[in-house]
Amino acid sequence: MTKKAKVTTATLRAMKGAQQRISALTAYDFTFASLLDEAGVDVVLVGDSVATVVQGRDTTVPVTMDQMVYHCELVGRAVQRALVVGDLPFLSYQVSAEDALRNAGRLLKEGLAEAVKLEGGAEFAPTVARLVTAGIPVMGHIGLTPQSIHQFGSYRARGQDAAERARIVADARALEAAGAFAMVLEKVPSDLGHEVAAAVAIPVIGIGAGPLVDGQVLVTHDMLGLFTRFRPRFVRRYRELGQEIGAAVRQYCQDVQQGSFPNADESY
Ligand code: KIV
Repeated sequence: MTKKAKVTTATLRAMKGAQQRISALTAYDFTFASLLDEAGVDVVLVGDSVATVVQGRDTTVPVTMDQMVYHCELVGRAVQRALVVGDLPFLSYQVSAEDALRNAGRLLKEGLAEAVKLEGGAEFAPTVARLVTAGIPVMGHIGLTPQSIHQFGSYRARGQDAAERARIVADARALEAAGAFAMVLEKVPSDLGHEVAAAVAIPVIGIGAGPLVDGQVLVTHDMLGLFTRFRPRFVRRYRELGQEIGAAVRQYCQDVQQGSFPNADESY
């Protein structure tokens, strides 16, 4: 079997140049990460969405640095081809650039990530530059930034008026100038997604940013129908695995109750 070429930050940039769209999905453990990698996804993001879809929390705010390192390491051990990006959780990079460097370094050294992601635009450009100077590839995240939920008070789409649109385009340019290799653009009108992707040479990976960006990312538990507590319009459910699991577990319980599991072949 031929080994597929490893995806690097340079691969993603070349994909944008060749107008090849980038696919990204989240994973938080070895099994899911292996499945996504074997299926050919380009980027595996160990997102702080682990807080909502794995830990059962209401927001991404509470997830800790230690927890992110733990989940990154589970994913990092599984992935052979995709680029592994670890999310910097709330307050792991906002206090100071030194803090950001130490914590981003942990995601690479202990968590086996190959790049980090942080939320924020122009205001975090000096932090991005600091990490990049130290050899840590950084993916930005602009538009809707879920770690700031308590400041904004809602998950409404961003970039709805001229001032906010201009700020988002300026944020994208600032991240590129600071050395980010790519950025996530979340929940903005499609025409703004297009404008941002055209404004920068680095890949813009959308989530709810329409089709005219350089790639797409979704939370795996959302697109597989495993997490159904809420469903943003931008989520396409490719399977209903939550229902599949429910049916399998009900069948198992019935088989145990009726004594039909295990059978002779399943016994010693
Ligand atoms: O945490 C996450 O999963 C993310 C994606 C939604 C982009 O940031």
